[in-house]
Amino acid sequence: MTSTTNQGRVTATPAFDLSGYLKQQQAQVESALEQAIAVTYPEKIYEAMRYSLMAGGKRLRPILCLATCELVGGTSDMAMPTACALEMIHTMSLIHDDLPAMDNDDYRRGKLTNHKVYGEDIAILAGDGLLAYAFEFIAVQTRQVPPAQVLQVIAKLGRAVGAAGLVGGQVVDLDSEGNPDVTLETLNFIHRHKTGALLEASVVCGAILASATETDLQRLSRYAQNIGLAFQIIDDVLDITATQEELGKTAGKDLQAQKATYPSFWGIEESQRQASQLVLEAKAEIADFGEKAQPLMAIAEYITARKH
Ligand code: IPE
Ligand code: IPE
Ligand code: MG
Ligand code: MG
Ligand code: MG
Repeated sequence: MTSTTNQGRVTATPAFDLSGYLKQQQAQVESALEQAIAVTYPEKIYEAMRYSLMAGGKRLRPILCLATCELVGGTSDMAMPTACALEMIHTMSLIHDDLPAMDNDDYRRGKLTNHKVYGEDIAILAGDGLLAYAFEFIAVQTRQVPPAQVLQVIAKLGRAVGAAGLVGGQVVDLDSEGNPDVTLETLNFIHRHKTGALLEASVVCGAILASATETDLQRLSRYAQNIGLAFQIIDDVLDITATQEELGKTAGKDLQAQKATYPSFWGIEESQRQASQLVLEAKAEIADFGEKAQPLMAIAEYITARKH
């Protein structure tokens, strides 16, 4: 159930057990991912793909997809192939983001990065393999959803991960390194594209699979755009405030690489305030769904409360 506090803020009631919900959904996703990729000849590439895919992670994108599909009246089964594909695409983006040619990171999800274990050549190919397989997986594995909707999901995801989305954001992120004059407009472009686009697609694809109305798609899209930007702002904050143990990746890298980040623009406190404001706006977008929106409400709050 949702309630309105005396400040007029819409909040999830404490009755909703987010941590239990996340654990349960994570377990479902882990089990589906575990079965998604078999190791066969040439074993090296399947092992490299599985190494990063099965290394843990919050599984936020699949969980958002499943939660939204259920909110709109669909089932978890309808959305699971797309949920897995989202995690494959996200994992590809992490493997490539960590390469020496990009952020040059040695640790990810508490383990050595893919290229540190398998070499740069195989890491690039493992990312390519995951990206291609994600689309195959949706097309081949999706059940109980009309083909037109499956096609819409594939198109939406392709756009979210390509030059109009994640790839475009990564390009401007890299271009902005070491530039002290990056504008807020550019910073917002980076965050909305490199991170926001895939998070938005996670929510919208879940809704498409459950045949959401155009109005619902639009408000869910606005919800997701807001949490997407908030998510990357908090990622930037945690890069400064959290430890390597908490993050599972090297802390302090953004400052070292002179990345354009929210804290570099606004400072830590103001960045946190802006993220909280975005979460409030996200929650307001879905307030009309009532009790059914509890998981999405709680996930929005988790975006700013998280420690890793
Ligand atoms: C890290 O994503 C990269 C960003 C887009 C900020 P997550 O923080 O979701 O990483 P995992 O999946 O939990 O490892
Ligand atoms: C990552 O942004 C965005 C993508 C992987 C698409 P970051 O470079 O900030 O992510 P982390 O901090 O390495 O996880
Ligand atoms: Mg990066
Ligand atoms: Mg990085
Ligand atoms: Mg980061």
